Amino acid sequence: MILAANLKTNLTREKTNKYMKGLERFLDESKSAQEVYVFPATSSLDKYTKNVVVGAQNAYPTLNGAFTGEIGLEQLEEFGIKTILIGHSERRHILGETQEILVKKFAFYKEQGFKIIYCVGEPLNIREAGHDVMMNYISAQYEGIDTEYENLIIAYEPVWAIGTGLTPTLEEIENIHKELKKKSPAPILYGGSVKVTNAKDVLALTSVDGVLVGSAALYLDHFCSMIDDAEAIEKIAGEK
Ligand code: PGA
Repeated sequence: MILAANLKTNLTREKTNKYMKGLERFLDESKSAQEVYVFPATSSLDKYTKNVVVGAQNAYPTLNGAFTGEIGLEQLEEFGIKTILIGHSERRHILGETQEILVKKFAFYKEQGFKIIYCVGEPLNIREAGHDVMMNYISAQYEGIDTEYENLIIAYEPVWAIGTGLTPTLEEIENIHKELKKKSPAPILYGGSVKVTNAKDVLALTSVDGVLVGSAALYLDHFCSMIDDAEAIEKIAGEK
């Protein structure tokens, strides 16, 4: 399964290094077969070439140039980064990224062969407007995106569940993932208040291929425990 930690605007470079060392040690010792990603703050990017795949939380669709405050492909290449998060709800709703901008980012980094974790998800008022409104809203987030791209991973993250401690029910997650799987053959992660206490249940759902974790992943032991959960679930499934 896929376990991705989005560290957002947290941890210094020093603390990120410590985190990565601890995570690598855990993966070496546990011999986990899970696919693990970490998205550190831009200032903490570095060359990490062991078990964990390091990705960028954001980058501008350019090699380099005059885009104050942004980084481009050249800055990612310095650290061998080939993975990027696109469309995270905080970029859409706090930083104001439109679907048009996200489509440009997607096309640019796809052209470069990047692994793309593309996030979709609805705000609370849209969810409350009913199932069809919600699915239309999410469908619009697929517009302009190559859903057949072989290096694509989708993350379904309801905006109202991110950082709030609220989550949809397991049944709701399963149903939405099933519908989203009709739109793309890409694996789908669930994200939004995944914690040590609910990770196992979420990971055990048949339509969930992994999790994208924010706040809980800041605790290395919590993130490692989720990796263990995924490992245990795969083992049981393999024995069946
Ligand atoms: P959360 O964030 O786990 O803190 O809800 C998830 C995310 O934003 O990817």
